[in-house]
Amino acid sequence: MAARGRPTPQPAKADRPRFRDRQAYKRSGVNPYVDLHREYAECLLPANDAWTWRERWSERFGREAPLHLEIGSGNGEFLAELASRHPDTDFIGVEIRYKRCVLVAKKLVEAGVHNAVICRYHAAFLDDLLEPGSLDAVYVNHPDPWPKGRHEKNRLISRWFLEDVCLYLKPGGVLRLKSDHRANIERAELLIAHEPNGTPADPLPLEVSGRSEDVTRLPAPWPDDIETNYQSKFRKRGLPVYAIELRRT
Ligand SMILES: C[S@@+](CC[C@H](N)C(=O)[O-])C[C@H]1O[C@@H](n2cnc3c(N)ncnc32)[C@H](O)[C@@H]1O
Repeated sequence: MAARGRPTPQPAKADRPRFRDRQAYKRSGVNPYVDLHREYAECLLPANDAWTWRERWSERFGREAPLHLEIGSGNGEFLAELASRHPDTDFIGVEIRYKRCVLVAKKLVEAGVHNAVICRYHAAFLDDLLEPGSLDAVYVNHPDPWPKGRHEKNRLISRWFLEDVCLYLKPGGVLRLKSDHRANIERAELLIAHEPNGTPADPLPLEVSGRSEDVTRLPAPWPDDIETNYQSKFRKRGLPVYAIELRRT
């Protein structure tokens, strides 16, 4: 990923996505999880399929319902529980790793939910998957921290990501971010009106609507918080997990 902009391995074209499965689905033996992806086809969408639903998620879910997005679903505990608790909402998970997509799909099947799918996709290319103003909420739990300065280009919590959040959230929609890495939370707030280096930038239409210094001990800044797999690891070690909610104005 470029430091200021999103990665652009594919030029944008109207008739094709910018992120694609390359060899993994074409040749056997490239990735051991690909066969399992086919087994879980009901709730696991490979990149080459996921983007085709961009304008018709309601068709995919068979109804008109609020649409929420989780980025980096990990082992799927959070997404499965969220979908179970909110049967009137539809959920899209985006996870880049083949194996983790299988773990998420297993959790969705075990939970018996039909209102959630997991897409093997890269979070930098949400424009392949979503129409502007289509989401009511975005969840990001424990994004990889990439704490070293030279790794800034790899961080999800970036200006381009917040711009995407503004584009895909409806007014009043929320981004809910939890992280064991306090800098991620501070960065999310700073980047609303600054470049990563602290230079003032045009303010994005986001406001801080909630904050917690430790959701393992104190209430989360939203109702009905669900502990994620990573969150439980930090709680068991007695370490804090920070949270922030940004509302699309
Ligand atoms: C530290 S784990 C957290 C997992 C889970 N959210 C939790 O809280 O237990 C970060 C997850 O984000 C995924 N991830 C990292 N970069 C991504 C990207 N660009 N697009 C989609 N998922 C990504 C990783 O594969 C991993 O599953």
